[in-house]
Amino acid sequence: MKNIEILSLGPFYAPAFELMEREFTVHKLWQAKDPDAFIAELGGRIRGIQAMHANKTQAKLMDSLPKLEIIACFGVGVDGVDLEAARKRGLIVTNTPEVLDECVADLAMGLTLATVRRICLGDRFVRAGNWLKGPLPFARKVGGKTMGILGYGRIGKAIARRAEAFGMRIVYHGRQQQPGVAHKYYATLTEMARDCDVLLVICPGGPATRHLVNAEVLKALGPEGTLINVARGSVVDEQALVKALAEGSLGAAGLDVFESEPNVPEALFGMDQVVLQPHVASATHETRMAMGVLTADNLRAHFAGKPVLTPVA
Ligand code: NAP
Ligand code: 8YV
Repeated sequence: MKNIEILSLGPFYAPAFELMEREFTVHKLWQAKDPDAFIAELGGRIRGIQAMHANKTQAKLMDSLPKLEIIACFGVGVDGVDLEAARKRGLIVTNTPEVLDECVADLAMGLTLATVRRICLGDRFVRAGNWLKGPLPFARKVGGKTMGILGYGRIGKAIARRAEAFGMRIVYHGRQQQPGVAHKYYATLTEMARDCDVLLVICPGGPATRHLVNAEVLKALGPEGTLINVARGSVVDEQALVKALAEGSLGAAGLDVFESEPNVPEALFGMDQVVLQPHVASATHETRMAMGVLTADNLRAHFAGKPVLTPVA
């Protein structure tokens, strides 16, 4: 398949990227000194795009690639792709669902424990020699608390399994109640936030969910409440979040994702009630390899004339 030319918008896990390069001719836009000239020169030959979540795969780029057939995303979230423009062009879009569920859920649960039990604060406390001066103030118990999941999908359900093993009660919010799910459903996010101790955000990003977690939701979660976001920074109004944490109207937050990555509001750096991660929920060797293999498998299937493995509806 070496005669098939793919435009890579961003590098993914190197050992898996090499597998893709062995099979296809891959042009790395992210290494181009002049991206416009690069596309002007190669655009007419490109039949596939490989994209990362941070890449904006918009109509302008698609229009400059007349032979484009497929956009293969490394990651499950496709909020970086203009899906409507892809649909109009009849392009296939693929992503990497399921292979990352367990690792993302592990980090979500880890952030929940680290934030509620103040594990990172305890670590800093010991390293700073403060234990010699007295004990660390108590944290809160995780078991017996209610976790409200915003986005009870594949990853949301993997998080629920973990939280239940820690003795938490699960409730959820989405656009509709799911058949056969025993957990309590809330049609209104603010109402769920009012009734839960931990609000766990794991719905897709994009315009439909932008700032779903706003000042009103944070106020409902309250001074004893904890926000965990492993979805997309865009789902949470970051300014409102910083304000609520600073004022104490929200108790704590554990964040893997931010509105303008890799920029993180500096105000969060000095807050002991906040645990920060650099968008690493799927970042294990095993999972990144599986995501890379699935990205390449989708390209291979398409160019072999077979149905892709994981199309985005
Ligand atoms: P999924 O299986 O499609 O689940 C998404 C859930 O979100 C569904 O239950 C859906 O329920 C709900 N939802 C969709 N739109 C909504 C809306 N407007 N309001 C409320 N709920 C809505 O997706 P997944 O595989 O679990 O992945 C979820 C997201 O996690 C991804 O899109 C990605 O952005 C993020 N993610 C982040 C990382 C990371 O590294 N931090 C890693 C992987 C994934 P309804 O259809 O009933 O509304
Ligand atoms: C990755 C993600 O960090 O799958 C997603 O939606 O956000 C993460 O798994 C990302 O895809 C890497 O670009």
